[in-house]
Amino acid sequence: WLLPSLVLILGYLLGSIPFGLLLTRITGAGDLRQIGSGNIGATNVLRTGRKGLAAATLLLDLLKGVAAVLVGAAIVDGGGPMAGAMAFIGHCYPVWLRFAGGKGVATMMGVVTALYWPAGIVFALVWLGLLFGTRWSSVGGMSAGISAPVAMWAFGRMDLVPVALAMALILLWRHRANIARLMKGEEPKVGTSKSASP
Ligand code: G3P
Repeated sequence: WLLPSLVLILGYLLGSIPFGLLLTRITGAGDLRQIGSGNIGATNVLRTGRKGLAAATLLLDLLKGVAAVLVGAAIVDGGGPMAGAMAFIGHCYPVWLRFAGGKGVATMMGVVTALYWPAGIVFALVWLGLLFGTRWSSVGGMSAGISAPVAMWAFGRMDLVPVALAMALILLWRHRANIARLMKGEEPKVGTSKSASP
């Protein structure tokens, strides 16, 4: 039980590093909690006007998901999905931020890619397609999240369907304010200056 517990804890700790918040604080780009949607993800970092910082946030939030899966798999057989899921949970519910974390899109992309890269490609294509098609980051992220369990199923990776489905459901739950804004026609599009409320 010792090694599986270590995998869970390490996965959570990796995922709970709030890169968006750290990068914007260190560079003096502002307090993300007071900007736009108040979220700690790359989309909200973009609302500070710092494109490079937003790209770095996206990459680092993604890489921590990849790292968790690799570390988990190295520690114990079958530890990849466990560590990946915990990294995703750590990102969404970090103890350091009183469990008020991000919405999980970038980290889920990293976890899915590290678990089974073809599903990661599908995730990225759906995300980019819907993001650029609608210019709503949340629509791109939610669609990509839903695509992951479907892709795992379509590729015959039934063993990975449960973990992908669990992450997709949490990701949708984390986007509930976005869903409400979308239904009211108030969700801001990326590349516009109109800001979202939390
Ligand atoms: O990944 C988060 C994105 O889908 C929505 O972010 O800041 O527009 O709520 P935000």
